[in-house]
Amino acid sequence: MTDTTPPTIIAFASPKGGAGKSTTCLAIAGALLSKGYSVHIIDFDQSQTLWRWYTEKAAPTATTNLTVQLPPKENLSDFAKGLWSHPADFVLIDLAGQLTREMLHLAVFATLTITPVQLSEPDIVEANRIHDQLLDIQTRVHKPIIHRLLVNNVQPLRGAFENALLDELIQAQLPRFNRLIFHRAAYKEIFGTGLPPHFADQTRPAITKAVDELDALFAEIETALTDEDTAIQPPKKEAA
Ligand SMILES: Nc1ncnc2c1ncn2[C@@H]1O[C@H](COP(=O)(O)OP(=O)(O)OP(=O)(O)O)[C@@H](O)[C@H]1O
Ligand SMILES: [Mg+2]
Repeated sequence: MTDTTPPTIIAFASPKGGAGKSTTCLAIAGALLSKGYSVHIIDFDQSQTLWRWYTEKAAPTATTNLTVQLPPKENLSDFAKGLWSHPADFVLIDLAGQLTREMLHLAVFATLTITPVQLSEPDIVEANRIHDQLLDIQTRVHKPIIHRLLVNNVQPLRGAFENALLDELIQAQLPRFNRLIFHRAAYKEIFGTGLPPHFADQTRPAITKAVDELDALFAEIETALTDEDTAIQPPKKEAA
């Protein structure tokens, strides 16, 4: 009997280059694979980061549970619709740094859209922008869109400036995961060793800290996927 359960589709979207879409996508893919899920990745990144990782470096992680593909050049909408019948448990979409309207529409097909942001002013401006764009799409297509920011690449010794930006993010009430992803060698190394933290040397504290971080994030992802009322909420109107 064929399993007809649609996959959970997670899109990594941010118009800001270098925010950590490809890195967090692959780190989360590793976490999912280690839990026994099958994962299919679609690499829209202009530099084909994950495709190159898969074809050149992924051998140690290569299981039949992992596939990576480049997207088609056209008919994106049909392609996106087809994803709902993909046999993998999870389909992860690593979107390009420059988000076109067409690409943003992939968020409509995604079960969850994650926007990695770093604690920098331009990242936060872009995060607000993408959130507004998704809200706009949600209103037009009448389909709830689940969107979460993921604060990434946080320096362990945060300065007053980063703390102020984090406060700003909290006050802006943009939906985000509470778990912060710290700046760690374990993430940087993925593209050198080929190993996402869950597959790297677990005797190194630098690796296990990343694994714990990702597992805590995964618990929050699961909640975001199962909670009712989790979709983007229209901004509350200011009292007159
Ligand atoms: N948590 C982290 N710790 C350490 N390095 C990180 C972390 N997140 C990202 N990086 C590094 O930051 C750089 C940019 O990350 P990445 O390529 O994932 O960003 P991106 O959003 O996919 O960029 P693009 O928009 O160009 O596709 C990479 O060198 C990556 O190794
Ligand atoms: Mg990328």
